[in-house]
Parts: sequence; structure tokens; C-alpha cells
Amino acid sequence: MDIRIPRGTQDILPGTSEKWQWIEGKVHEICRRFNYAEIRTPIFEQTELFQRGVGDTTDIVQKEMYTFTDRGGRSLTLRPEGTASVVRSYVENKLYGSATQPEKLYYIGPMFRYERPQSGRMRQFFQFGVEAIGSDDPAIDAEVIAMAMEFYNELGLKGLKLVLNSLGDQDSRKAHRDALIAHFKPHIHEFCSDCQDRLEKNPLRILDCKKDRDHPLMDNAPSILDYLNEQSRQYFAAVQRLLDNMDIPYEVDSGLVRGLDYYNNTAFEIMIEGEGFGAITTLMGGGRYNGLVEEMGGPESHGIGFALSIERLLMALEAQKVDLPVKKGLDCYLVALGEQPSEEAAVLLTELRRAGISADKDYVNKKIKGQFKAADRLQASYTAVLGEDELQKGIINVKSMASGEQKEVPLKEFTHYIRGKMEEEK
Ligand code: HAM
Repeated sequence: MDIRIPRGTQDILPGTSEKWQWIEGKVHEICRRFNYAEIRTPIFEQTELFQRGVGDTTDIVQKEMYTFTDRGGRSLTLRPEGTASVVRSYVENKLYGSATQPEKLYYIGPMFRYERPQSGRMRQFFQFGVEAIGSDDPAIDAEVIAMAMEFYNELGLKGLKLVLNSLGDQDSRKAHRDALIAHFKPHIHEFCSDCQDRLEKNPLRILDCKKDRDHPLMDNAPSILDYLNEQSRQYFAAVQRLLDNMDIPYEVDSGLVRGLDYYNNTAFEIMIEGEGFGAITTLMGGGRYNGLVEEMGGPESHGIGFALSIERLLMALEAQKVDLPVKKGLDCYLVALGEQPSEEAAVLLTELRRAGISADKDYVNKKIKGQFKAADRLQASYTAVLGEDELQKGIINVKSMASGEQKEVPLKEFTHYIRGKMEEEK
């Protein structure tokens, strides 16, 4: 067989999947504390959702979407990100009508982008994201940013850098757009064909171009911060003040433009410094999207959110050698010798498991040595040996793998005994 896993995807195998589960637990837990409720939207959506939501001129829509026609002739796309779907759902389910605005939602699940795979850049990756829709209070911007920082800090990551920018409201953006066109137009033939295309459609994207980033015109390009109108300036100042009050350090970078079109006012990313990362140092990105709900046919309702990938988070944790407190190993492994003891072991296993104890036994007729090896490999806290003799005497021989201590325990008390030991270890 020469069928391989698709490029840019990965199998998450036992040994690693425990870390994922632990992180997922942490995601649910922090969202509970910040009062965000989970939303689950489909993996595929109508293609138009992303064309309109993420933006026709973005790399995501132009080059990276997994789009297909289904048997009914509809154009569908595997979601490249979560925000557009959440906003669609917010509008479709009239969540704007609920009494608890802003609607504070989170999601965790796979996203798909046809990108050139490299470390930290996958074609299928898992995003944890939050969206708070229905508030124009700068305090919700600060909350969303603080939540992302809190998440990474609680996991023990160091060297984080929060980068902040304002992309302004519609008026500010229009003024900035005109200035960008005037700046680049005379020399646009020196830029790549993508940028030439972007000049009229979306000149902000030129600032994000990887090919032309060393062009001298990039350095003195008009900064959005010089074009913010009074309202946008005040909004941005309020977000910064709130972050200052929360003791969250940040850096303002007017070059931060983000790769999706729906943003206005607050935009932010969290980067990580240090070795082991190669070119990719952005862990998380987000921002405010004030026109998206209306674009999707809803009422005027403004949102803000972020998304981060679990893959990049794990890379960062590995690079910094952060050990997650993942519970390793089995509580109890039963070593059974002979036919009768083996049958009895199956009953004991049932009892242990019903009592909440993780337990297992041999199913491939291993000899005693092999069974002990298996117990070792599974990192069992206790190994319990049941042979013909023990069975006749109505006992089982329990060994603590940590201390080596052995004890004969009456079969009737076995489950109770192991449970007591596990409680003690907690
Ligand atoms: P984004 O910047 O496209 O924003 O992606 C957010 C995060 O997803 C990135 O910072 C990175 O951690 C991760 N990511 C993106 N592409 C890949 C990839 N190919 N492989 C691995 N990880 C990746 C958004 O997706 C917006 N929806 C964020 C947002 C939510 N804005 C407002 N609300």
C-alpha cells in the first residue's frame, strides 16, 4: 500500500493526543472563567461566506481555500477560519436578539488552508478562537486580548510579545487607502504582480507582501496611525489605557495589518521570541470587525475576537521545554496466570473500572514476564498478580510499582483497596 497522509496534515498519536486533550480541557476551563460559551459550526460552508467574509482579495480566498462542488452542484469550502462561520450563525440564529449581549462565544476545531507546508504552517490545523459580538466598549477589546495572554501565561510560556495596532474605522481607512495609493502608484511596476493587483483593490495588503517587503518604499509608507480620525484615535487610546491598567505590556506597531479583510480599529497579534521557531513566530491573531455582521445580513452589531492554533502552541511549549501536567499511566494492571485467573481478572477489571480506576490486563497470552513488561510500559501505579494459588486462597497480590511494596489483599476488598491507594496519591 502506498497511500500516505495528505501533505500538511498530521496524525496525532497516543503519547501526544494526551497533551491535546489537556490543552482542550484548559481551553474549556478558561472560557468558563471568562464566561464564553462554546459554539460548533459546520466544517464546510457555502464558498460565498468566506469570499464575502474573509475578503475576495485576501490570500486565503484567492489561493488557499479547499473549495469543491458537491453532488447537488453547490460550491462549498472547508472553513479556513472560524470568524465568518460564527458571524453567519449569529445572524442566522438571531443571537443578536438575546438579552445577554455581547454574545461571547468560543470554538475549537480544524481549519483548512492550502498553504505551503512548513513547521508551524499546516494545511489542516486546529484553532481555538473566541468572538464577542454586540459591544462597542473598548473594555471588551481589552478582555479578549487579556484572555489570550492569560491562556499562554497559565500554560507557562515565556518571551511573549503582544503587538497592537489600530486599523481605524471606515473613514480613517479610506483616508489611509488614498494615501497608500498615492505613495505606491508611481513605482508600482517595481512590485510583484500580486501587489500591482492589490494597488486599487486593497492597497493595505501591499504592506503585508512577503516578496516585496525589502522594497525601499515599504519603509516610509503612510502609517494608518497618522490617518485615524478622532473617534478611532480615542478608541485606540482607551484600549491601550485598559491594558496598562491590567499590567499587560504591549508594543504598538503600525505595520501590523492582518491577513483578513474584515478588521477595523483594534488589531493584535501575540508573537514569541526565542529559538526553535524558524520563520514563524506569530502564535495568535485577532481584532475587531465592525462591519461583518451587517455584511452577513444582520443588524449593526460589532464584534472582536482572536484565534490561535494548537499546533503552534505545542511547538512553543516544546521549544521552551514546558512539561504539561498530563496524567501518565494506568492505575492498575492485572497480571493473570492461567485460564481461571484470567476469567476472574476480567470480572475484577469490570469492578475496578466501575469504581473509576483505570485498569487493564493482557489479551495476547503473554507469559508472566511479558505481562510485567506490559505493566511497566503502561506505567501502571499498581500491578496485581492473580494465579491459581491466589484464586484458591481468595486473595490477590498487589505491588506498588513506585515503592516495590507488596501486599496480599482479599479479593473482595481489592477494588476498595486500590481506590484507597489512588485517593492517597491524589
Ligand atoms: P489568522 O491570523 O488567519 O486569524 O489565524 C489565527 C492563528 O491561527 C494564527 O496566529 C496561527 O496561530 C493559526 N494559523 C493560521 N494559519 C495556520 C496554519 N496554516 N497552520 C497552523 N496554524 C495556523 C484568523 O483566523 C481570524 N479568524 C482570527 C480572529 C478571530 N479574528 C477575529 N476573531
